[in-house]
Amino acid sequence: MSLPIAQHQNAVKTVVVPAAGMGTRFLPATKTIPKELLPVVDTPGIELVAKEAADLGASQLAIITAPNKDGILKHFEAFPELEATLEARGKTDQLNKVRAARELIATVPVVQEKPLGLGHAVGLAESVLDDDEDVVAVMLPDDLVLPFGVTERMAEVRAKFGGSVLAAIEVAEDEVSSYGVFELGELDAESENEGIRRVVGMVEKPAPEDAPSRFAATGRYLLDRAIFDALRRIEPGAGGELQLTDAIALLIEEGHPVHIVVHEGKRHDLGNPAGYIPAVVYFGLRHAEYGSKIHRAVKEIIAEFES
Ligand code: UTP
Repeated sequence: MSLPIAQHQNAVKTVVVPAAGMGTRFLPATKTIPKELLPVVDTPGIELVAKEAADLGASQLAIITAPNKDGILKHFEAFPELEATLEARGKTDQLNKVRAARELIATVPVVQEKPLGLGHAVGLAESVLDDDEDVVAVMLPDDLVLPFGVTERMAEVRAKFGGSVLAAIEVAEDEVSSYGVFELGELDAESENEGIRRVVGMVEKPAPEDAPSRFAATGRYLLDRAIFDALRRIEPGAGGELQLTDAIALLIEEGHPVHIVVHEGKRHDLGNPAGYIPAVVYFGLRHAEYGSKIHRAVKEIIAEFES
């Protein structure tokens, strides 16, 4: 990117991380452990996303949590006793791991009393924005979009076209019903080369035969402040929840520019075991300390399974 993000006219101050969902796909673990704290090898998904927000140059992380999920906020606080013990025992690596989360970025808690949907959760973040914030980033903590940096590309697209910009991935036809799916505008040769497309409609979890494309939203949103007004005007949609997709669709209908940046890299869905386990294996195989042991063990497990 040509300009450091802080000097960008669309610099993002606040990254909203909605983490108040029920995590039903991870029951029974999520009776007591928020799914956002489940470890990817040893680091919770939400800490990886906090790092992504810090790398973007944001100054605060607005974490939307539920009343029974305060462990998430605690994760970003100091642990004086634990830190003192680790320090006294000379365990510097572990001490650095304990401190890493709170040193990344300032966190601001926002409580969602009831899980009324992603749209409702995002809407609550308006109260922590400064008056001069025209844009807000939303990063879903159960989506890892690798390599980091897609939101910076999205900021460049917003600088060019204005409005809101979302990250998209191309999914298989039988997967569209799990996602918010984009209806795309006419091809513009220049934009297409850069993997950037104008969006003319958006629908949450369509049946495959109704899906307007196979481009789906993937957990990174750069939203114009107008989103908060739209969120106040939508009705509950899919699953009886207030859907962020429906507010974006409303903005599009009203002529607000919305573009997607098609992400070509990797993406891990940590929100369900079928995506979470491969993500742990992916990071585990690359881990400096455990990688080779995990590699051997995974090969053995697969060989035994296949025989
Ligand atoms: P998901 O739909 O993946 O999370 O929402 P969920 O509702 O917890 O999952 P299941 O379907 O019950 O297994 C994406 C993100 O939005 C947050 C979730 O915590 C997750 O990080 N979310 C969702 C909220 O903050 N509030 C809500 O009302 C719903």
